[in-house]
Amino acid sequence: MPAVSFQAISKTFATPKGPFQALNQVSLDIEQGEFFGLLGPNGAGKTTLISILAGLARATSGRVLVQGSDVQANYADARRKLGIVPQELVFDPFFNVREALRFQSGYFGVKNNDAWIDELLENLGLVDKANANMRQLSGGMKRRVLVAQALVHKPPIIVLDEPTAGVDVELRQTLWHFIARLNKEGHTVLLTTHYLEEAEALCGRIAMLKAGQVVALNRTSELLKAASGSVLQFKTDAVLPAMLASIARVTGRIVQLPAQDAAEIENHLATLRVAGVELQDMEIRRPDLEDVFLQVMSGTSASNISLSEVAL
Ligand SMILES: Nc1ncnc2c1ncn2[C@@H]1O[C@H](COP(=O)(O)OP(=O)(O)O)[C@@H](O)[C@H]1O
Ligand SMILES: [Mg+2]
Repeated sequence: MPAVSFQAISKTFATPKGPFQALNQVSLDIEQGEFFGLLGPNGAGKTTLISILAGLARATSGRVLVQGSDVQANYADARRKLGIVPQELVFDPFFNVREALRFQSGYFGVKNNDAWIDELLENLGLVDKANANMRQLSGGMKRRVLVAQALVHKPPIIVLDEPTAGVDVELRQTLWHFIARLNKEGHTVLLTTHYLEEAEALCGRIAMLKAGQVVALNRTSELLKAASGSVLQFKTDAVLPAMLASIARVTGRIVQLPAQDAAEIENHLATLRVAGVELQDMEIRRPDLEDVFLQVMSGTSASNISLSEVAL
């Protein structure tokens, strides 16, 4: 039985401009024990899908099963199996950290779990904040408390919606260390992120969502293998010629240019030489997950990436 089974989920919102379809026939199964990544640009529908999984929004059609329990028909059962870290920082300003965790435990009918609460505080670097009021915490600290709250009832399935958006490197490392441990111990993890290196490092399997539809679904290793071409990467202070600027991925001084084959790399280098662009630390590498993502989103991926057979 899958940990989570999304079955032909569609969602249409009524908006002032008329109906807007945020999800279109999304079907995917997440198996027990998987570390699964749900990727997609802003607005792709990731949070909407997670809200439907959490029972916070209702699908227009389709259904979601959590270890066999229907989220609509059997809400309490399904909800208890899920630990959900929401994208938005929502918290009760009147509690301190430990009280918030005890209150959340009570919501799930869990009692006498102070030992587990202490372990959560320890593992998420919150020990010295245990008695701090939620209002006094920085954004990063609140995010840690949200993670602890999601885990307080030891749910078999952990769902994290952009947990590292805007958080510091230290929290990312603390968080991934802990979540990876829980995954090793058997918890299923569903993660949405737009940090693609994180997804590449952590997720065994990945679905990519574009405008409410699944456009790629495969093991991370298969997605990387099926990516076509290579990437010419270098550093420069110079301005790129327009024809390269339009296809380049630029992060500060680092420039990455996709190329189908060796001839295209030669062309890129010739264009750069003619424009007098000086290159430092040049290398040619295999596409990484971010390149695959860009190929899929622009519709230029090899056909064996998109909707490949889902082999586990
Ligand atoms: N309550 C709502 N009413 C109308 N449109 C919504 C609502 N919630 C989300 N949307 C729209 O649905 C699309 C998907 O949003 P969302 O699921 O938050 O995307 P993601 O999490 O992938 O960034 C977006 O275009 C968003 O504006
Ligand atoms: Mg979102």
